[in-house]
Amino acid sequence: MLKMFYNLVCFGRYKAIINCLATQERANLINKNVSDSKANLLWKWWGVRVNANKEADQRKLLDSIFTRATQGSRIVKDAEPLRPDYIPPKLLFRDEQIAAVAQIVAPLLRRQRCSNILLYGKTGTGKTATARLVLNELKLKAQKLNIPICLCYSNCRLAGTEYRVVLDLAETACVKIPFTGLSLGEAYSRVAAQISSENLNVLLVLDEIDYLAKSSTGNLLYELTRSHDKLNPGSISLIGISNDLRFKEMLDPRVLSSLGEEEMVFPPYSVEELRLILEERVKLAFNEGCITEAAVNLCAALAGSEHGDARRAVDLLRVSAEVAEREQSPRVEERHIKIALQKMEQDRLIEALRVLPLQAKLILLAVVKSTDSPSTGSIYQTYLSLSSRVGVETLTARRVSGILSELDMQGLVSANVLSKGRYGRSKRVILLVPKPLVLDVFTQDPVVSSII
Ligand SMILES: Nc1ncnc2c1ncn2[C@@H]1O[C@H](COP(=O)(O)OP(=O)(O)O)[C@@H](O)[C@H]1O
Ligand SMILES: [Mg+2]
Repeated sequence: MLKMFYNLVCFGRYKAIINCLATQERANLINKNVSDSKANLLWKWWGVRVNANKEADQRKLLDSIFTRATQGSRIVKDAEPLRPDYIPPKLLFRDEQIAAVAQIVAPLLRRQRCSNILLYGKTGTGKTATARLVLNELKLKAQKLNIPICLCYSNCRLAGTEYRVVLDLAETACVKIPFTGLSLGEAYSRVAAQISSENLNVLLVLDEIDYLAKSSTGNLLYELTRSHDKLNPGSISLIGISNDLRFKEMLDPRVLSSLGEEEMVFPPYSVEELRLILEERVKLAFNEGCITEAAVNLCAALAGSEHGDARRAVDLLRVSAEVAEREQSPRVEERHIKIALQKMEQDRLIEALRVLPLQAKLILLAVVKSTDSPSTGSIYQTYLSLSSRVGVETLTARRVSGILSELDMQGLVSANVLSKGRYGRSKRVILLVPKPLVLDVFTQDPVVSSII
C-alpha cells in the first residue's frame, strides 16, 4: 500500500499501476517457490516486457495515424478550393462588379492607360477574387492578341512597406532593384524610367491599400497617382482595394481624387447567397454525401450573422472538415460546424491579443488584475504600477481612456460610462475575454510576461 502511495506520488498514476502489477507478479513468483534470484530475473524481464508493450502501443498509434494519412481523407477530395486565396472558376453574384472592372481596364488592350479604380467593401465580399479573376482573363486575352501589358498584384499588408511594393512593381517591369540601400524615390524613379523607355502599360493592383495609407509616408501613392503626368510614353493604372470603409479620410485629397476616378462598393452577401456559394465549394472540395445539408445551412447562417462574409463561410467549412476528420466521422454535421466556430473564435481572440501594442497589453493586463468591473480610475492606478515595473513611458489618463475605447471597439472589453464627474467621465470596464486566455497569450510576450 505504502509502495503504491509512493509510486503514485513519485511517478504518476500510469507508472504506479505498472510498478504495482510488476511487484505483484514478482510476489506471485516467490509464492510459487521460484528462487529469489530467478524471480528477480523474471521480474526484470517483466519490466522489459511492459516497456516493450508501451513501445508497441506507441508504434501502433503512430502507424495508424500515418496509415490514415496515406489513405487520404474520406471527406475532402481536394483541399485547394478551401484555401482562403482560392479563386473559383465562377464568382457567384458578382457579374455586375466583374463586368464593370473589365470595362474600366479594357483600354489597356488598345495600349492605352485606363482609369484608376477603388474597390471598397467589408472583408469576404469578393473584392480580391474579382480583381484577380479579371486580371487573369486580361492576361490571357493580351497574350492571345500579343499585346504587351504588365500586370502586377501587390498586397500592401503583406508587403509591409512602400519599398516592398516598389520591389513587386520592379519585378513585373523586369527592373533589377536591390532589396535595401536605395531611397524610395530612387527605387521608384528607376522603375518609372524603365516603364517609359519600354513604353509599358502597367496595371498595378494594390490590395489592402489602406495599410499603405495608414503606415507610411504616403509618398508612393502620391507618385503613383501622378504617374500619368510624368510617364510619357508608358503608364501605370491602379486598382486600389480596401476593406476599411473609412480609409478615404486618411488620403491626401490630391491622391484621393486621382485614385478614385472610378469607385465601386461590394455589398455583403445575404445568408442565401452564402449558402449557394458554399454549395458550389462543397461540390469542388468534398466527396459526395460527406456533408449534410443542415451543416451547410448552419455554416451560411453563422458566416452571415455579422456581415455576409464569404471568407468566414469558406474558413468555417474547412475547419469543420478538419474537426470531422480528426473525429473519424464519415461526414461533416452541424456539431462539427459549432466546434469549428468556437475554435475559430478562440484563434481570432488569441491573434487579436497577440498583436496588441505594448501599451494596450499593459492596460488590458491592468483590467485583468483589477477587481470585478473596475472603474477607469482604478485601472489607471494599476496601469501606472505595471508600466513603471516594466520601465516603459507612462501614458496620461486621457490616453489610457482612449486605448480602453479601442479595446472596446475590438470587443475585448466593454466600457460603459458610469458618471460624468468634475474630473471627466468615469467608465466601468468589463473584461469580455476569459482571464486565463489573456494571461496565457501575454506570457508569450517577452516584456509583459515578467509582470504577470
Ligand atoms: N461571389 C463569390 N463566389 C464564390 N466564392 C467567393 C465569392 N466571393 C468571395 N468568395 C470566396 O470567399 C473568399 C474571400 O473572398 P475575397 O475576394 O478574398 O474577399 P475580400 O477581398 O472582399 O475580403 C475567397 O475564398 C473567395 O474565393
Ligand atoms: Mg481581399
